[in-house]
Amino acid sequence: MDEILKKIEESLERVSQAKNPDELENLRIEILGRKGYFAELSPLMAKLPADQKPIYGRQINELRKRTEEIFNEIKEAFKKTSEESKFDLTLPGRSHPIGQLHPLSIIEKRIIEIFVSMGFDVVTGPILAPEIETDYFNFEALNIHKDHPTRDTQDSLYLDAEHKYLLRTQTSPVQIRYMLENELPIQMVAPGRCFRRDLVDARHAPMFHQVEGLLVDEGINFTHLKGVLELFARQLFGQDRKVRFRPDYFPFTEPSAEIAIDCTVCGQKGCRTCSYTGWMEILGCGMVHPQVIRNGGFDPEKVSGFAFGIGIDRTAMLMYRIGDIRLFLENDKRFLDQF
Ligand code: DAH
Repeated sequence: MDEILKKIEESLERVSQAKNPDELENLRIEILGRKGYFAELSPLMAKLPADQKPIYGRQINELRKRTEEIFNEIKEAFKKTSEESKFDLTLPGRSHPIGQLHPLSIIEKRIIEIFVSMGFDVVTGPILAPEIETDYFNFEALNIHKDHPTRDTQDSLYLDAEHKYLLRTQTSPVQIRYMLENELPIQMVAPGRCFRRDLVDARHAPMFHQVEGLLVDEGINFTHLKGVLELFARQLFGQDRKVRFRPDYFPFTEPSAEIAIDCTVCGQKGCRTCSYTGWMEILGCGMVHPQVIRNGGFDPEKVSGFAFGIGIDRTAMLMYRIGDIRLFLENDKRFLDQF
């Protein structure tokens, strides 16, 4: 037994010199394995006189326990160094960039938020705000008849030879669709894409974005229009903005107006953004034409309302001082990362 115990001691000395986990495992088998030194001790123990058994037994058990502990400690140490060598802790972390909103989405969101805070509903989707429209909703119901000159400025992308279906040229048809499906008070905004057969240049694109607005109820007059849209203009562009109303013309409103604010770029000294006028046009609006009210299913003798249309692309260009509408469509990360 003493001989075996000596072998164990010698082997344990080699344990601290093991260079890798394999060497360590071989030593473990040699000492603690099924045919190892401790296993050799068992049959010898059986031959000991009864009074010596407990003494040797306790000593051997303790030695076995300590030996196991030593192996576990060294094994852990090997594991730790191998994990550390797998990771270079000095390498910079890999970033996981998350997406960001497109500048047009940011401006659309801000416009919508302002009207929602004033109680307007938001209307989108293929039932009430389809991008494929009929000639009736896009034009006729809005007082734009076949020979109306406005049709020239809204050169359309038709989808059939009969010119019955087209990509909507404006969000105004949502006015009619919404009125036909809803009760008073009508109070909605409808953001979305519009399409025209325009040649592409710095200010024109065949696809652009508008926010339509409509408020119809009993007793609505021009002061309501003025109050709501002045509040909107100042919330979007700043409390100190001057807001100018000038007469304009739209077939679906009477009277019609155009709203401009004092140029945010030059402080009305005159610059390229305001075409040296000192004013920037931000939207078109007006009192809803009685025939449009009628086409929406209401009686113009009893109810009245106002409508407005805001160009999102134009507004974004004004707010961010972007000189070319094409930048919105190019998906250039260097441009998009700035917002
Ligand atoms: N639909 C018009 C356009 O595309 C914009 C517009 C102007 C809408 C006045 C309106 C409005 O609702 O009242 O040019």
